[in-house]
Amino acid sequence: MSVEITRTEKITQLFQVHSLDIQGADRDFVTRFHNSLPKIQGLFQELYGVHEEAESQLLELLQSLILGYQGREESLRERDRNKDAEGNWFLSQNLAGMSMYVDRFAGSLKTMPSKLSHLQDLGVNFLHLMPLFESPQGESDGGYAVSNFRKVDPRFGTLEELIALRKTMHGQGMFLMLDIVLNHTSHLHEWAMKAKAGDQEYQNYYYTYENRWIPNEFEQAMPEIFPESAPGNFTWNEEMKRWVMTVFHNYQWDLNFSNPKVLQAMVETMLFYANLGIDLLRIDAPAFIWKQTGTSCQNLPQAHTLLRLIKQCVQVATPGMALLGEAIVAPKDIMNYFGTGDYVAQECDFAYNATQMALQWDMLASGDTSVMLQAQADILRKPYGTSWITYSRCHDDIGLGYEDASIAQAGKDPYLHRRFLKEYYSFSGEQWMSPARGALFSSNPKTGDARISGTLASLCGLEKALYEGNGPAIEQSIQKILLMQAHSIFLGGLPMLFYGDEVGCTNDYRYQQDPGKSYDNRWMHRPLLDWEKVNRRKTEGTLEYQLFEGTKKLLAIRKSMELFADLSNVSWMTPHNRHIAGLIRRKGEERRYCLFNFSDQPAGLTWYAFREQGESATQLLDSWTQTNYSVGPDHEHLVLEPYGFRILEPR
Ligand code: GLC
Repeated sequence: MSVEITRTEKITQLFQVHSLDIQGADRDFVTRFHNSLPKIQGLFQELYGVHEEAESQLLELLQSLILGYQGREESLRERDRNKDAEGNWFLSQNLAGMSMYVDRFAGSLKTMPSKLSHLQDLGVNFLHLMPLFESPQGESDGGYAVSNFRKVDPRFGTLEELIALRKTMHGQGMFLMLDIVLNHTSHLHEWAMKAKAGDQEYQNYYYTYENRWIPNEFEQAMPEIFPESAPGNFTWNEEMKRWVMTVFHNYQWDLNFSNPKVLQAMVETMLFYANLGIDLLRIDAPAFIWKQTGTSCQNLPQAHTLLRLIKQCVQVATPGMALLGEAIVAPKDIMNYFGTGDYVAQECDFAYNATQMALQWDMLASGDTSVMLQAQADILRKPYGTSWITYSRCHDDIGLGYEDASIAQAGKDPYLHRRFLKEYYSFSGEQWMSPARGALFSSNPKTGDARISGTLASLCGLEKALYEGNGPAIEQSIQKILLMQAHSIFLGGLPMLFYGDEVGCTNDYRYQQDPGKSYDNRWMHRPLLDWEKVNRRKTEGTLEYQLFEGTKKLLAIRKSMELFADLSNVSWMTPHNRHIAGLIRRKGEERRYCLFNFSDQPAGLTWYAFREQGESATQLLDSWTQTNYSVGPDHEHLVLEPYGFRILEPR
């Protein structure tokens, strides 16, 4: 009891010290603070209850919420209020995103504003700028090895330029997403440098060990993330004369979140980012943030407790910033990132629909929707009020992380099916005349696992078709690219395009000449944008024109209908034809049927498929081709051309 009183008194003191106007200007903040306090205390207790500095660290955390709130400029607070009034602002069909490297897309932060019109023409109003904070050249992992969380890397520009860009974007009705890389730091981060110099306080920010006993115990149950370029999960550091946990590359040191000071530092960083004006914070690799021997060190319950605690902190201090958990995990695990039990829809607001992304590639290679449909039982469980990032390609590889059971239930042999997919996309098998041009990433001979690298265009056959000068194959690959984009744009969630895909960039092999990148073939699909190519999108008849205009039209169709907001209103039609994926989006009486033919042959869907839905429509109007179809008898079909799709409105 006395502890409780003391804490309450200390909180009151904190309010006084920071001159909070409880009844006046700061009332909303104080209300949020008190609403969340029981949860914050409970979650903190779960993680750090037995830690000797638990009480003082909790108060520090609470103080940083006050400071984070007080550091928020008025225009951002107003933006918070507007988002709150709108309610679930991020579910809107008006948002359409693109992910990009500032340097490879525009050159620098300074030149970014001049490129915004290209994005706005396309219909993109939400930008994910890949990591911008200081990261050592050559040991950067594309910016995911951060050596200073608050200094923009001079390669991109300055913090002031980032803020100026954000202001320009907000002024033009755009939204901004940035990363927080909280699982690890660069080995050149100040904390790691101090740890190397022997400072025990900072060695405790990481997992360091003087001998192999505990590392060996960990290794028994931990998988390898980059088995080719960075095997194992520990690295010997000669300066420190200790082993350090490095789950990703050996220059990325894993932070130890069982130390509350690490949490404190990272929450402060997140609020700092929030006050730069970020609308959505991408939490990098959250599945990994808690480690325990005897486990895979992924998806542990404490990782969820941490994320819930982070969500409460952000909700109190800077409520307009939503959270995306970049957990690329099995379908059964992903749902937990939206929160469970008392915390449903109170953990991450967004997750990547990585399973569906991979299944799109499965359908494209096999021409068969059955594995995809088997996986839906898990995917459709997403709670209302949360959303997916939907995408065909991003900066990472394509992991075929869905369950073997889904493949088996679809009547296929999981081993052979995965081998087929890997061969199809990497062109590594001799028996396949595959149109795709990609490569295997992180092959692990011990487990047989491998992921896939390559741009959307190259994986859809454009690279090969261009090389061969094969006109019909070029047309077919354009059709495939648009099919893939259409599928992720209408799927439900916030579509996130990847820069360059809007004009069909093929693999960029120049990374092989750069020793800081050559060990990581994900760079083949992170192109240095050629603006001459981009500008060809203005010339009718070019492939860039076709792709840009097609993508633009898809985004415009999505924006024009409220039922494409993420209202958790997705269901799948009966697979009367296994080549056609049929998605239904509903709002009240309204419906749209989105049909995608993943086959290289024409495919027909019986008209009964529509009647089966209790739909008495006699006409179906396609928003994509502007064709009006009369619904025919059950034994006749709506025929989709190879890789064709339709967005049908019943009339
Ligand atoms: C995330 C990033 C990936 C990076 C990894 C390690 O998965 O998307 O690019 O390599 O985290 O930070």
